[in-house]
Amino acid sequence: MGVRLVSTGSCLPDKVLSNFDLEKMVDTSDHWITTRTGIRERRISQGETTSDMATEAAFKALSSTSPEEVELIVVATATPDAFFPSTACKVQSKLGNKRAVAFDVSAACTGFIYALYVADSILRSKDIKNALVIGAERFSKIVNWEDRSTCILFGDGAGAVYLEASEDEGILAFDLGADGSYGELLSVPSVGSNEDFPFFVKMKGNEVFKIAVRTMVESAKRVLEKASLKAEDISLLIPHQANLRIINAVAQRLNIPQEKVFVNLDKYGNTSAASIPIALDEALRQGKLKKGDLVLLVAFGGGFTWGSCVIKV
Ligand code: ACO
Repeated sequence: MGVRLVSTGSCLPDKVLSNFDLEKMVDTSDHWITTRTGIRERRISQGETTSDMATEAAFKALSSTSPEEVELIVVATATPDAFFPSTACKVQSKLGNKRAVAFDVSAACTGFIYALYVADSILRSKDIKNALVIGAERFSKIVNWEDRSTCILFGDGAGAVYLEASEDEGILAFDLGADGSYGELLSVPSVGSNEDFPFFVKMKGNEVFKIAVRTMVESAKRVLEKASLKAEDISLLIPHQANLRIINAVAQRLNIPQEKVFVNLDKYGNTSAASIPIALDEALRQGKLKKGDLVLLVAFGGGFTWGSCVIKV
């Protein structure tokens, strides 16, 4: 009994915000942003909500499946439309679905891997036969557009995968973890705290950077070991798209050559929980993955949280 990846979809808002646009908003330069991060532009919602983007990504992932048949919807997001109803419930309604179990998962940039793990475990319990797993974010709403150290990094978007319980093993292994003692290095307060509104992303970028590289490498090694695989067996590494220097350092330490590493953060920046499913969808549509290939997903984010997954597509 296994779980297979059937199809994917993604949604990016039309509005492009380039580094040159940011030069007019804060004291920064295209040169600083591209050399420090690899990001050239990002997409910004012009009114599309997180659930709007999640729903469009879901419709695309369901192109050959009826939305009414979906039995489980899990949305990973740190920027939900509302405290409740969950974004997953909103997606269910917009899909015209009335039967799916629906809830959100919160693990910042690792959210999609956490959500995938939850859906995979539920599908293996055999009660539920298929699932939509979505990563969707509208970070433009929680970024302080006057803080040059964070506002240049993030973008909006959504990615979705449709999974089915199957005889074959598609999702091969996971490695997940968290260390809450690092919480203050990367955070956005909310109403349960004693902090005052408005709530913005706060990050000690330099410290996050070092721990991100080390943790992503360790997690990737553990998941490869769990799947009895070596780095050279992997057809494509899809890392969380936070910073090109993090991605390059992780790939180098795993001995994965650059041509096997998927990068699209130049176009979209860091879309948090949406980054991996958007990248997975693009990699499949661009023919960078074919049936039977092994893809390694690796994420790191606020919490700190981390997660890796190996999928046979
Ligand atoms: N433009 C120009 N200068 C800037 C900018 C900017 N946009 N931002 C910061 N600077 C300046 C700083 O003020 C500092 O100046 P100083 O030396 O005079 O004090 C200098 O540039 C260097 O700043 P650092 O913060 O040390 O720069 P660094 O090389 O670390 O790059 C960055 C910053 C890009 C944020 C990097 O640390 C990073 O990518 N960190 C990890 C982010 C990440 O992975 N997050 C995890 C996931 S996100 C999530 O979970 C929600």
